[in-house]
Amino acid sequence: MGMLDGKVVLITGSAGGMGRVAALIFAREGAKIVGSDVKTDLNDETVGLVRDAGGEMTGIAPIDLTDPEQARQLVEGAVSAYGGLDVVYNNAAMQRFGPMPDFSVEDWRATEAGELDIPFFVSKFAWPHLVRRGGGVIINVASEAGMIAGSNPPMVAHTAANAGVIGMTRQLALEGAPHGIRAVAISPGPVLTPASDRDLGDNQALRDAVTSKTLLKRFARPEEIVELAAFLASDRASYITGANYPVDGGASAW
Ligand SMILES: NC(=O)c1ccc[n+]([C@@H]2O[C@H](COP(=O)([O-])OP(=O)(O)OC[C@H]3O[C@@H](n4cnc5c(N)ncnc54)[C@H](O)[C@@H]3O)[C@@H](O)[C@H]2O)c1
Repeated sequence: MGMLDGKVVLITGSAGGMGRVAALIFAREGAKIVGSDVKTDLNDETVGLVRDAGGEMTGIAPIDLTDPEQARQLVEGAVSAYGGLDVVYNNAAMQRFGPMPDFSVEDWRATEAGELDIPFFVSKFAWPHLVRRGGGVIINVASEAGMIAGSNPPMVAHTAANAGVIGMTRQLALEGAPHGIRAVAISPGPVLTPASDRDLGDNQALRDAVTSKTLLKRFARPEEIVELAAFLASDRASYITGANYPVDGGASAW
């Protein structure tokens, strides 16, 4: 028996580091996965990995979720893939970094669109389907940057967007409760994904700078974030809503 047996889970950003691991872990727990990304080839790879592991997954790509119409189409496609929707895992995001005051208005807007618009659009279009189902769960992947400032690199738009995601999660929980919809945020600290590992290369000084605020002095593995997400998505977490869970190696504790 998996924790998510029979549940239909929509994962955004399933071509990426944490989204791919989410697809594998949610499927391991018995969920039927609809995974979407703007990157078609990598998303197809995730579908293949999940199926090879014996899981069930449908890929819908390319979808650019900063476009509300494409977000609506994705949700409709997810609902028709397996006849309904139980869990929305809002994981896709795109952000830009840079110091004040040179951080451009264009970079600001792109980051707010990539981090704040996406989970709003997907939640908005998924909402009526969750209501029709008698309830469901929205999990928003935010960031430690929604709780504390960060200097490696400077991140004014990223902090603002993720504080927004955490605030939006509370509001979705309030408005969702009468419909049986739970809404929860997870705020990861630095996570080592294939992409971030490649970007950091052999720059050990930068790696140390990125993890310096954690108490554990290391990156998280994607699994260390997603195992919590699987629990929060399950009926075992039925009394949890409106909360934000830091999974940040202690970075926000001091
Ligand atoms: N990696 C970290 O250190 C870290 C830390 C805190 C929070 N997070 C958050 O975790 C989530 C996953 O991060 P990740 O490290 O796996 O990132 P990632 O870049 O590997 O994955 C994100 C995925 O989202 C997709 N995406 C981006 N913009 C999109 C759009 N407009 N439409 C559709 N898909 C789009 C990307 O193509 C990518 O596959 C993000 O919300 C990120 O902000 C990551």
